[in-house]
Amino acid sequence: MTNDNPIVRLEGVRLDRGGRTVLRDISLDVPQGRVVAVLGPSGSGKSTLLAALTGELPAAAGTVEVFGRPIPDRRRELLELRKGIGVMLQGNGLLTDLTAAENVALPLRTHTTLPKPVIDRLVRMKLHAVGLRAAADAFPRELSGGMARRVALARALALDPPLMIYDEPLTGLDPIASGVVMALVRRLNDTLGLTSIVVTHHVHETLPVADHAIVIANGGIVFSGSPDALETSADPLVRQFLRGEPDGPIPFDSPGGFGAAPRPAEETA
Ligand SMILES: Nc1ncnc2c1ncn2[C@@H]1O[C@H](COP(=O)(O)OP(=O)(O)OP(=O)(O)O)[C@@H](O)[C@H]1O
Ligand SMILES: [Mg+2]
Repeated sequence: MTNDNPIVRLEGVRLDRGGRTVLRDISLDVPQGRVVAVLGPSGSGKSTLLAALTGELPAAAGTVEVFGRPIPDRRRELLELRKGIGVMLQGNGLLTDLTAAENVALPLRTHTTLPKPVIDRLVRMKLHAVGLRAAADAFPRELSGGMARRVALARALALDPPLMIYDEPLTGLDPIASGVVMALVRRLNDTLGLTSIVVTHHVHETLPVADHAIVIANGGIVFSGSPDALETSADPLVRQFLRGEPDGPIPFDSPGGFGAAPRPAEETA
């Protein structure tokens, strides 16, 4: 994937967590307008990769560029950059004592000085964009899982960020709600002229709406190409991941290895 002005560019990036290298030699260009699926087994480093894009986790080596500029060190500039990145994290992160509309209004209240009538109007537009204008006054507990996820999506869009990143947007949703959310991700990307990075292990729901897919495993990118090429890949690592097999080149449970689940002793340490 080549482009003169990619929205996201990583070159030779290494990411460490807790003194351990999680990802190494990561190079990736995401051109404007694309929907890129980032796939990989649990613990492979997908969320870690996203943390590098928002500047939450500085790269231990290599360069990370977003909107054509390296991630800034200075806090003020970093906060400015983050306003341009809409983030929807695993779960909804909705505030339970606020209505859907109030949740969507939150970033606008925090980061702009717009008068209330303008904010109200923008909130209605965002809720309309995710098909939930009628749910404006509902509290999160009154919404289905899929609807709550769409409110979270509207909130991530509140500041009109050119780049959207989603971490496991389908967790806990049934296949129908998953299809609705993924179709929405694609439609919003195209109608609003966004660029989207979708981290997920829901391969079959995500690939149909993606332009490009990467698979992370064993500490690096093991596949980068079109969704079609991914589905026909003969690479044993890729095949193992797509089929969800425990035996193969991806270690199922190697303590300290990539993709290893934390052992109980480590969790309580
Ligand atoms: N804050 C942290 N401190 C230390 N280690 C961490 C931290 N966050 C993640 N890790 C480790 O980094 C590795 C990658 O974690 P990461 O959360 O990026 O995986 P993931 O691919 O997003 O997994 P999942 O699909 O389960 O969300 C794991 O081994 C994890 O234990
Ligand atoms: Mg994760």
